[in-house]
Amino acid sequence: MNDIPPLGLGTWQITGPDATEAVRDALALGYRHVDTARIYGNEAEVGEGIANSGVARDDFWLTTKLWREGLRRDEVREQLEGSLRALRTDHVDLLLIHWPNDDVPLDETLGAMAELRDEGKVLDLGVSNFTSAQVREAAGIERISTNQVEYHAYLSQEPVLEACREHGIVLTAYSPLANGKLLKEPLLAEIAGERGATPAQVALRWLLDQPDVVTVPKAGSHDNRVANLGALEIELSGEDRERIDGLPKDRRVISPGFAPAWD
Ligand SMILES: NC(=O)c1ccc[n+]([C@@H]2O[C@H](COP(=O)([O-])OP(=O)(O)OC[C@H]3O[C@@H](n4cnc5c(N)ncnc54)[C@H](OP(=O)(O)O)[C@@H]3O)[C@@H](O)[C@H]2O)c1
Repeated sequence: MNDIPPLGLGTWQITGPDATEAVRDALALGYRHVDTARIYGNEAEVGEGIANSGVARDDFWLTTKLWREGLRRDEVREQLEGSLRALRTDHVDLLLIHWPNDDVPLDETLGAMAELRDEGKVLDLGVSNFTSAQVREAAGIERISTNQVEYHAYLSQEPVLEACREHGIVLTAYSPLANGKLLKEPLLAEIAGERGATPAQVALRWLLDQPDVVTVPKAGSHDNRVANLGALEIELSGEDRERIDGLPKDRRVISPGFAPAWD
């Protein structure tokens, strides 16, 4: 399995020309990981941004996700072929099952994904929004490189992290800024002031300091893309991390009706 670059650009809710420009700009700035999904409806624009960036396909990491209503064997292939066409590439680095779906046997979906991996169209397989039990089940069927789940300073993911670490699976933290809600947290502002950083950078660094955790913040604006990349440059002390560990960790922001019963 390949190493996932620690900080990627999330592209959910960036559409149309904004998505093209966000991806072109991010790659020009030095991002080497882009996260999209079939359901985001922006793969063609992401593909255009990649083409406009001049960055070679092999020089960055590209993740896309299979929508949950299309996890039968033939549907998996159809979805991925559609993604590759839109993204203008012959392979993605990582293909995720976006959300679990109990109506389709997991081994059917993972088996279809493994065939695509054998054909070189996908380099690594992964899952998203899987609970700790579902991670263990998936790891028993196929080689899984990540579980992408909501994770930030307002939400504990201890059981999922434990299951991932048991199987050498990286946790990709989505909504790392709690979809923006973390940015008003006074503790982050205080630590940011002491470190000459911004609250967003502190929130991201807290995640990046954890073993086996990478993250994909979304930034629609150039300034926020620059700022988030700066999270790789700042340092937190052990005490900073402990203070952030101490924030209440019960605020989940993404939980649609079809979500599994969370740990
Ligand atoms: N697998 C899944 O089911 C799933 C679910 C949700 C998200 N995701 C992935 O995770 C990515 C990130 O999650 P998210 O979009 O929910 O939210 P997020 O990254 O937690 O937060 C994004 C919000 O924070 C703002 N922001 C970003 N950087 C900032 C900065 N430096 N200073 C101030 N504000 C800043 C953005 O504003 P601007 O846009 O205006 O810059 C936006 O409003 C998604 O784009 C997607 O790729 C995956």
